Amino acid sequence: MNDKSQVVIHNAGQLLTLAGGAQRGTQLGELGIIENGAVLLEGEQILETATSDSLLKKYPRVKRVDARGCVLMPGFVDPHTHLVWAGDRAGEFALRLQGKSYLEILAAGGGILSTVAATRKATIPELVAQTRVRAWNAFQNGTTTAEVKTGYGLTRESELKQLEAILALDETDPLELIPTFLGAHAIPPEYQDAASDYVELLCQEMIPAVKSWWINHAHGRPLPFVDVFCEKGAFNLAQSRLILETAQNWGFPLKIHADEFENLGGAALAAELGAASADHLVKTSSEDITALANSATVAVSLPGTPFGLGEPEYTPARQILDAGGLLSLATDTNPGTSWCESMQFILALACRKLGLTPAQAIAAATINAAAALNCQDRIGSLEPGKQADILILSVDDFRHLGYRFGTNLVTHVVKRGRIYPVTPTAPEITNRPG
Ligand code: NIG
Ligand code: FE
Repeated sequence: MNDKSQVVIHNAGQLLTLAGGAQRGTQLGELGIIENGAVLLEGEQILETATSDSLLKKYPRVKRVDARGCVLMPGFVDPHTHLVWAGDRAGEFALRLQGKSYLEILAAGGGILSTVAATRKATIPELVAQTRVRAWNAFQNGTTTAEVKTGYGLTRESELKQLEAILALDETDPLELIPTFLGAHAIPPEYQDAASDYVELLCQEMIPAVKSWWINHAHGRPLPFVDVFCEKGAFNLAQSRLILETAQNWGFPLKIHADEFENLGGAALAAELGAASADHLVKTSSEDITALANSATVAVSLPGTPFGLGEPEYTPARQILDAGGLLSLATDTNPGTSWCESMQFILALACRKLGLTPAQAIAAATINAAAALNCQDRIGSLEPGKQADILILSVDDFRHLGYRFGTNLVTHVVKRGRIYPVTPTAPEITNRPG
């Protein structure tokens, strides 16, 4: 058969298929490697994976792309970002280096709230333009799908503006975006002394408004996630429960920010409510780890956050794996704690700070990350019928991921079957005498 829309990418020194579904506990790290592998694509989909010899023999006339002995693997899935915001917080970074804590700055009306002020002022085209740069950084570094949260508006209109920017960018740019409504990211300045009024507004007005806006604007896409920042200085456990239960009653899938700075019990709440994921998990208690491990909720670790804050403590990842939990990794890209668009850097941190092997970090950043977005049937591995989201690396051994950091090992990103070269070719330099 010589179907023009078919292409075989062959001669991969290591083809990492990640086949077989999300990887629980100490099973994490099964890469499903095919040595000298190849993958056959048709349009946006993967049709087959096998050794290069067998696929080339079976499809002798199909168009070929030579991977030159390098690693071929699924695109990274980044299941926790706050990609859509306006402005920056370089001044706050300097303040923190002088000893002010993240929560002190937030309590004084800075931190998240200063990004809220900048984001409220921005128009949708301005938001899209600023976010597009970050989305391209992520894409060039191998992220093919990213979750994106609202949460820098904190009014109905400005939260919907963020959702609109996410949908607009998803429509035009190759990085696939999966939205989350995080109206419960902080208590807005107008409600500083009336947090419970804001919780009521969220439950009575904003969540229902997001649902009806979504139905009218999102062209049949599945509902976004609803997330809560369950933390001292943000939303307590009872408020988080109320918001998440309300969202669940409206049909939204759930997520939670839990145990970034203090253990309030958010992870166990996520497990109880069947949330797709519980994220951060730095101060998580043994009981909460057991609750997570006995559930289908994915534990999403964000090592860029303690690194970005200069904090010494990280997610107890090995404890989560020993308990049988589903572990995943994400960047948490945001202007306050972790302005990092590179999943490759997150893998490098995970190997050093969470004690993961490169193979475990890769599985946590692909198939398990897809599970944290309820998308494991569509993305996260290279298997027949899945979306053709594939990376070609510049190296022939997957362990270079994790081992190396600060340089981009991705040379090509394949998104929905379309190949994007991402390593820029050096411009020609002519040395003419003056
Ligand atoms: O996941 N902690 C809450 N939200 C973000 C930080 C957002 C910000 O500081 O702007 C996080 O770390
Ligand atoms: Fe976050």
